[in-house]
Amino acid sequence: PRKLIIDTDPGVDDAFAIALALETMSTEVEVLGLTTVFGNVRRDDATRNARTLVEMCALAGSWRREAGARLPVVDGARAPLAALDEDDRSGAGASTADDSAVLVADFVHGEDGFGGVRGAYETRPEESAVEHRAGREAADFIAEMCAKYPGEVTVLALAPLTNIALTFRRHPECSETMGELVVLGGAFEVNGNVNPAAEANILGDPEAADEVFGAFERTFVVGLDVTTRVRLSGAEIERLETVLRDADAVSPPRRCSNLLRAFLHDATQFYKAYHLRVADFDGIYVHDPTALLLALPHVRDAVFTFRRGAVRVALARDCARGAVFLDARRAWLFRNAWSDRPRVSVAMDVDVDAALRELRARL
Ligand code: BDR
Ligand code: CA
Repeated sequence: PRKLIIDTDPGVDDAFAIALALETMSTEVEVLGLTTVFGNVRRDDATRNARTLVEMCALAGSWRREAGARLPVVDGARAPLAALDEDDRSGAGASTADDSAVLVADFVHGEDGFGGVRGAYETRPEESAVEHRAGREAADFIAEMCAKYPGEVTVLALAPLTNIALTFRRHPECSETMGELVVLGGAFEVNGNVNPAAEANILGDPEAADEVFGAFERTFVVGLDVTTRVRLSGAEIERLETVLRDADAVSPPRRCSNLLRAFLHDATQFYKAYHLRVADFDGIYVHDPTALLLALPHVRDAVFTFRRGAVRVALARDCARGAVFLDARRAWLFRNAWSDRPRVSVAMDVDVDAALRELRARL
């Protein structure tokens, strides 16, 4: 299996991606750990949500192949790079910076990030499935894993790119040792979702995104151009619960894995209502799970169409902040601000039926 680190701000669609990676894709990917960052929620909530999910997945059973195995959940940045740089001058680390100015997406994912249902699903198992080492930072963990398994680790970035930028800043050798980077973010030829210019993960930390796109060639980016075309219907979400009821009636031992389904069903209700309000359809975009598909090379090649080129992010503090631009022209013909950047792969088209087939097979 591919070795995977998921950098995340859970988030309902993050929860789907993490649950898939840990549960149904455990023969395809080996999750080495989750790193958390502010985004949909504040960093501390992101960590708490990640831990809640891992405990649920451990109850469900399949990723925890060895008794007593624990999954690292590592704290990352609490605020964007610009704020951290400011704090650095005063000596604070990425994990401790002040996050009072961070804007969260409570109107999309609920105040707790899980559509208001986290409290009902928090378990306190006697033996936790999580290894939460306070004081260790996401960027250092990522670098440590890449050094341990050179060329084998895919980092799946589902949130603002602060942790990833810090990884390349503090550990430049990661541009050699990291296997691949998959980034969920950006709106290239379509409008953003925060405003017409910008998508949420990029706008969360545009400076970090611009640094990352300039740092690492084996990067695969998927943004709203593709992810807003991959939708689960309201009926499919309801089916998660139907399976729960049926299976409960016939097969009590399956109850644990169904706890996870019940959680996904319940957490999605608030997120679904947002889609009905804003995008006018009954269902949800599955941004983060779609990005997870890009971490599987055979699926990636079969399902998505990429354009390769240099990517930059608009950084001025005006209405275009967070917009992304891809220069896929033959760069050597034009010397410009894009020319010295690595050519990364941006998903511009998707076979929607094939993507949904891949997701449904794993749901
Ligand atoms: C991205 O922003 C967050 O709301 C989602 O979790 C996803 O990562 C979509 O723009
Ligand atoms: Ca996310």
